Amino acid sequence: MTVVGPFGLSVRDQALETDVQAGLAAVEAGLLEATKSEVPFITEAAQHLVRAGGKRFRPLLVMLASRFGDPYAPGIVPSAVVVELTHLATLYHDDVMDEADVRRGVESANARWGNSVAVLTGDFLFARASHILADLGPEAVRIQAEAFERLVTGQILETAGPRDGRDPVAHYLDVIAGKTGSLIAVSGRFGALMSGADESVVDILTQYGERLGTAFQLADDVLDIASDAHESGKTPGTDLREGIPTLPVLRLREMAARDGRPEDLELVALLDGDLTDDVRHAEVLTRLRAHPALEQARRDTIRYAEDARAMLAPLPECFAKAALEELCDAVVHRAG
Ligand code: IPE
Ligand code: IPE
Ligand code: MG
Ligand code: MG
Repeated sequence: MTVVGPFGLSVRDQALETDVQAGLAAVEAGLLEATKSEVPFITEAAQHLVRAGGKRFRPLLVMLASRFGDPYAPGIVPSAVVVELTHLATLYHDDVMDEADVRRGVESANARWGNSVAVLTGDFLFARASHILADLGPEAVRIQAEAFERLVTGQILETAGPRDGRDPVAHYLDVIAGKTGSLIAVSGRFGALMSGADESVVDILTQYGERLGTAFQLADDVLDIASDAHESGKTPGTDLREGIPTLPVLRLREMAARDGRPEDLELVALLDGDLTDDVRHAEVLTRLRAHPALEQARRDTIRYAEDARAMLAPLPECFAKAALEELCDAVVHRAG
């Protein structure tokens, strides 16, 4: 048994391990190729976050999903490059939106070169992703376009907040299905589709990706509160500072409204104050880390991961299915 990838997946099959490693290596080469420009500064800015690392979770999912057809089909590696490039582009943009200084353990592009360069580099990456997509055919272009629309809509709805009277938790779950679930669903879909798997399998892996993506974002939101910068490569408490009400905070607000415990009401009042103040921000982070609302959010995360796992039931038993099942645990229990 060997362990593959940053999620420490235990793979008990030599062929699967060799192929996934080879596929991910080809994706790395594809990413470097796709981020080269005639203008040296663009190459530097575009490769800044490629070289900084990242988990390559979406390409890994493409590789595993491709095991239900021909895993050597020519569209698999390019489609994995497309999803990672798209993801990368959204990180450049997201760090501008969140005013984040650190990403993948290095300075964010906006911190290093300013917002204009960061936004335009993100656009450059989208352009390169579109170029590769064109060779994968019109269906791939349409799938990507639809997911991208959902992703952007999610980011906008997060910024806008819920309409009056709308349940904030329901709003938030829509937001994350859009901003994160959409592209992770495409990863499962592309892997299966490009391998020529049956339509029913393509559907299953799309829905699996959607649920896994929601769990992935919920875990990320818990990590924003619970992890340290060393593990996540990001600045803890960024969501709090930006006033983005993620599930741990929404669960806290529900508990405070329902039970009226004075310490919860006090924490809510702190949250509603100015969290750009460093002392207040640190205080809120410490209290949230010890609050049952964080545990509640962890349980919510596990529920989505279990939903994802259940989607896999009709697939034939194989090593790839076992790895996809294990991925559900890995996403929830990851440290960064
Ligand atoms: C970060 O994604 C943004 C989210 C959707 C939570 P990842 O956690 O996949 O980031 P990298 O690619 O490993 O840096
Ligand atoms: C961003 O969500 C999701 C996308 C980039 C579409 P977050 O704002 O939670 O991502 P991080 O925490 O900055 O990676
Ligand atoms: Mg962010
Ligand atoms: Mg986050």
